[in-house]
Amino acid sequence: MALSVLSRNTALFIFSILFTSIVFAKDDMVLDIDSAKPVAKIQPTMYGIFFEDINFSADGGLYAEMVKNRSFEFDQPLMGWTQPATAPYSSNLNSGIAHTMSYANNVNKNILRVNVFNGNNYSIVNEGFRGMGVVKGKEYLLSFYAANPDVNIKTITFRLIDPKDNVIATADIDPQVKDWNQYAATLIATKTEEKARLKITFKGHGAIDLDMISLFPKDTWNGRTKGLRKDLVEVIADLKPGFLRFPGGCIIEGRTLAQRYQWKQTLGAIEQRSTMVSRWNTEFSHKLTPDYFQSFGLGFYEYFQLAEDLGAEPIPVVSCGIACQFNTGEVVPLSEMDPYIQDALDLIEFANGSTDTPWGMVRASMGHPEKFNLKYLGIGNEQWGPQYIERFELFQKALKEKHPEIVLISGSGPFPDGELFDYAHKELKKLGAEIIDEHYYKDMAWFKQNATRYDSYDRNGPKIFAGEYAAQSVATVSPKNKNSWETALVEAAFMTGLERNADIVYMTSYAPLMAHVDAWQWSPNMIWFNNLEVLRTLNYQVQKLFSNNKGTDLLRVSTKNEAITGQEGIYASAVKDSINKSIIVKLVNTKGSERTIKINAKNRMVASPVSITTLANDKLDMENTFANPAALLPKTETRKSNADQLGLVLPKNSVVIVKFAIE
Ligand code: AHR
Repeated sequence: MALSVLSRNTALFIFSILFTSIVFAKDDMVLDIDSAKPVAKIQPTMYGIFFEDINFSADGGLYAEMVKNRSFEFDQPLMGWTQPATAPYSSNLNSGIAHTMSYANNVNKNILRVNVFNGNNYSIVNEGFRGMGVVKGKEYLLSFYAANPDVNIKTITFRLIDPKDNVIATADIDPQVKDWNQYAATLIATKTEEKARLKITFKGHGAIDLDMISLFPKDTWNGRTKGLRKDLVEVIADLKPGFLRFPGGCIIEGRTLAQRYQWKQTLGAIEQRSTMVSRWNTEFSHKLTPDYFQSFGLGFYEYFQLAEDLGAEPIPVVSCGIACQFNTGEVVPLSEMDPYIQDALDLIEFANGSTDTPWGMVRASMGHPEKFNLKYLGIGNEQWGPQYIERFELFQKALKEKHPEIVLISGSGPFPDGELFDYAHKELKKLGAEIIDEHYYKDMAWFKQNATRYDSYDRNGPKIFAGEYAAQSVATVSPKNKNSWETALVEAAFMTGLERNADIVYMTSYAPLMAHVDAWQWSPNMIWFNNLEVLRTLNYQVQKLFSNNKGTDLLRVSTKNEAITGQEGIYASAVKDSINKSIIVKLVNTKGSERTIKINAKNRMVASPVSITTLANDKLDMENTFANPAALLPKTETRKSNADQLGLVLPKNSVVIVKFAIE
């Protein structure tokens, strides 16, 4: 005990020495920054969000619906629902799924027909998305459709129950209408529970039909009824993302063309949106999530709305007519590409068209007459080879003819180098592609080595979207991959390289963004969540440090007249923030030893307080966890400085953001 107090005090003492005294030594690494000569603009889109509907991040995640398979449209229509198997409840052999189009439409065909013969207490239970998270005292909005032809079912009781079947919320509804009718009630939780379930009990004798049984927290992001999970959006909003790319990734492509993402089917009333299996249900056998479906409750309108809420540029991606080449690789013949291209044109109209255009009218009818101000559009995701180039060319021709103002983003395949990648770059450059999306799911060493990746890129070629990247601690997509401090540290080193090349790197995003702790296929992820909590990983903390300090103009930072790209394990980039009138230097020490440096800010106008934010830890394998979410967080301190030079000690394994004001 005495020893640990002593060592903590010693550590605090050392920490204060490191950051409060300026001790220059001969071998300080001198970092020269010329604040008067910005070398490029930092794009407002430099750091953004890549949202993919993977790992339960839409249904079961961001989309706050708590009932899984609310409309009985999963491939197994009763998936997620259980009926008691034994007496006294089981005389309901005729209960089950029926088909009807009587109340809604022809995309939502299944209903649940409940036959109650024993007069009392027949129940069904929905398990939620690995449970339902409810908080004591909070309200939950229940709604459903029912048709009670003979009005023989007198009362339906909705209860939230905990894993031991204790009741933690109740509401009774008497469904007195014969025809399809929507009913609603509010449940108030008497206990906080991560794994609650919804139990529905029927009183009466006879048949009743049910559909769209839904439960949402009342408290959602921006207070939108049946909207998004507030805590999750808040964590994303804290990143201050410059763009939101949606809805993914491979989810756009589909395993087959029939399963590609079709944005038009995600609009309108939620009852009118057809449910579809997610390609991220059983893609990897290491962790199956066969119950992952897309309700499209989070559809394109909601994505655009979210981008607007976040102040981020919306970047939708459309299918380019090729299904995932890791799966079927089905291809639409070139002569039959028109509907795909029309979908892209219609999407632009949906986002930006006036309200007297057909798709602008749809947007207005959903509540947003104002334009969404779309500027970018992704054509395909990770497709490769001549098939992609030929199809991209068709899109490019048609879209540029009608909408030269929309910047098109093209893909370069799934790998950051090799034959497919080189071919894509060569051909896209010939076509005058504007922005190329590159993906890197690589080991940790790669990230350090590739801090110089863009230094030698053609300055006259397409701009770069570093669209998907994450350091993989074990192997690409290994379920054993961790969000360790080491992965975050090497990503930070790499990101200084992205930033130093901001003249051509216009957009960057970590991937994937989110995962439910109990239902994921892909690891690592930037944010993990359960039904009640959100975990900001160390990778998140690094992303936030960069994004929140992106600045407006790139400055050259060098040592001995060379860019700082790993000399002695140190990486650096610098920007000016002309809005907040400051200079921001990002420093990464990947070595297991501290390093004294001296920042030499030539032409700095004003001596001022300096803020120093540090994220550092000795243990490279440490992680923030649900049990200890704040195990490692950035710490900021301010110190006075009256000189053009600033001495610092970079702790071992550290990311340090130094900020000082300028006039
Ligand atoms: O982020 C997960 C997947 O990785 C994306 O869907 C795809 O683009 C990449 O292969």
